[in-house]
Amino acid sequence: MNPAGYDRLQSQVIPGYGSLARLAVALLSCSPEAGSSAAEVLVAGCGTGAELLEAVAQRPDWRLTALDPSAEMLAESQQRLGSAPISWQQSTVEELLNEPGVEGRFSGALSVLVLQSLPDDGSKLAFLTALARCLKPGAQLVLVDLMRSGLVSLEPQLDASWLAFQAASGLDASAALGATQGLHPIGLARLTSLVNAAGFGDPARIFQALGFEGFLLQRQA
Ligand SMILES: C[S@@+](CC[C@H](N)C(=O)[O-])C[C@H]1O[C@@H](n2cnc3c(N)ncnc32)[C@H](O)[C@@H]1O
Repeated sequence: MNPAGYDRLQSQVIPGYGSLARLAVALLSCSPEAGSSAAEVLVAGCGTGAELLEAVAQRPDWRLTALDPSAEMLAESQQRLGSAPISWQQSTVEELLNEPGVEGRFSGALSVLVLQSLPDDGSKLAFLTALARCLKPGAQLVLVDLMRSGLVSLEPQLDASWLAFQAASGLDASAALGATQGLHPIGLARLTSLVNAAGFGDPARIFQALGFEGFLLQRQA
């Protein structure tokens, strides 16, 4: 993924991208565990730093760990965040879990637009399991992802609407196609079964814009 132009492209593809990070941070900030002062919070797949900018602005007391396997994305994020006191990790969540003291350490986590890029061949489950194991029992994950619609009869209309949204946002057809390739959306039933197997309770949907949905997940005791 190329960090140059990433944010502009995302706002042309994802309805409401400009306020996704703000909403995700506000939701986690009011959760039982991460709501407490100086909570340790994990930003998984921080990309170019949208959630981190919001987290630093809304919750300067949080102790943040930002993680991304891409050196380019991490570098862009570090440049945008300047001297903010963040623990940076170039790794996946699955790799982070191998480090001592990580299991059960975090009071909350954010995963925005990450799960959708992992195939459902064990990779999604491994990612979600690692996230659950990083969290304290009762701590919450805010998960935002592209989902497969359950509204089968409306699918052609929704797909066409998404393309119309992208065109109206100034994206040409070839760029629109490129932006959505390599994604692996799943439906709600599959997500529920994966998050339960990973150690979370059922996903509570808290927002949706076309196929992009936001969920609150709580790590089971
Ligand atoms: C589409 S970007 C989303 C970035 C940011 N969260 C946002 O909303 O703009 C997905 C990011 O997830 C990272 N990623 C992919 N697999 C990951 C994994 N297993 N653990 C953590 N991050 C991962 C990618 O390197 C990429 O930067």
